[in-house]
Amino acid sequence: MYDLDGIARQYAALRAELPGVAVRFAMKACPVDEVLARLARLGSGFDAASPQEIAQALRTGVDPGLIHYGNTVKSDRNIAEAHRLGVRDFATDSPEDVAAIAEHAPGSRVFCRIATTGEGALWGLSRKFGCSPEDALGVLGAARAAGLVASGLSVHVGSQQMTTEAWGAAIDSLAALLEALNRRGIVLDRINLGGGLPALGVLDRRGRPLEPPLDKMFVVIREGMERLRAVNAGPLDFLLEPGRHLVADHGAIRAHVARLTSRHRLDGTREDWLYLSCGKFNGLYEMDQLQYRLEFPTHRGGPSVDAVVAGPTCDSDDAYAHEDGLVAVPRGVASGDPVWVHSCGAYATAYATQGFNGVAPLPYICVGGSTSDGELA
Ligand SMILES: Cc1ncc(COP(=O)(O)O)c(C=O)c1O
Repeated sequence: MYDLDGIARQYAALRAELPGVAVRFAMKACPVDEVLARLARLGSGFDAASPQEIAQALRTGVDPGLIHYGNTVKSDRNIAEAHRLGVRDFATDSPEDVAAIAEHAPGSRVFCRIATTGEGALWGLSRKFGCSPEDALGVLGAARAAGLVASGLSVHVGSQQMTTEAWGAAIDSLAALLEALNRRGIVLDRINLGGGLPALGVLDRRGRPLEPPLDKMFVVIREGMERLRAVNAGPLDFLLEPGRHLVADHGAIRAHVARLTSRHRLDGTREDWLYLSCGKFNGLYEMDQLQYRLEFPTHRGGPSVDAVVAGPTCDSDDAYAHEDGLVAVPRGVASGDPVWVHSCGAYATAYATQGFNGVAPLPYICVGGSTSDGELA
């Protein structure tokens, strides 16, 4: 269940923290038509990862100029299709990809993604994407030589980033790279600060609140933008492509209890398990790294038992990775009782298998949406 007004409020709060920064919602976090339409109405653009996502974004009526192809992994056919759909902004990180963009999306603008360590993030996005700053000089030089517009740089500090230091390190790399590019006569006009801003309601692997230092992150980002503007030889615009931060805390799964059991392991220790109707393969794919607050609306208070929480399939990976992270479950819960799984509005409905073990992907509903955007701020 998605709360459209909550998402709209989150969008407004982010814009207030980072005035002037254009938002391109990372659709992969929540490719739900109603959510995209609401964000488009508020002025958001979209970070799309494929032509299919671009087509979905366009169905909101958004201007193609507000959509970029943010995935550095794309085939010739993907690039040509994106170009046909009107997209002119492409992320890249290799000379091979630049050559393909020049051929299949001639004249487009590219921004080069630089690698980060992903340190401090609960869902790191390092290694597969982004190049070194040295490579970025070559990539943007090659783009210009191939008739593309060398327009910007992008970073992603890793999803659910928990530290301000990661943002600081990203700004340091961007500043040094802008200076090096300027020395070569390449003056960029945009910096894409990526995603990575955290959700506030998720728990760590021990079931404790994560409490990311969000306010301090915004300070580091604001100061970082000033610094980057100061070092660059020309004016700079900033973009952000948040996914999780906008939607995670405004979506919840209404699951139910399959069974609460108590069994002995081979070493004689007793273990209690709570099996839910949703798990790793239908909504909680990130449960290795993140845990979610559970609410049992029909059992408030009363005695509880510390249980391992797991999904419904015959796969032993389909369980919270628990380092002492047992969850207090009301002793009296019975099969069929409702359970709210909170703060799982990001990467839930789409990150699911097509019926593994016969378990269907999650259906969804959207609530809210009646409040006018003006009233939300
Ligand atoms: C290119 C790109 N941008 C933005 C995001 C969104 O990241 P987050 O949900 O951490 O904000 C992702 C996530 O995978 C991504 O790959």
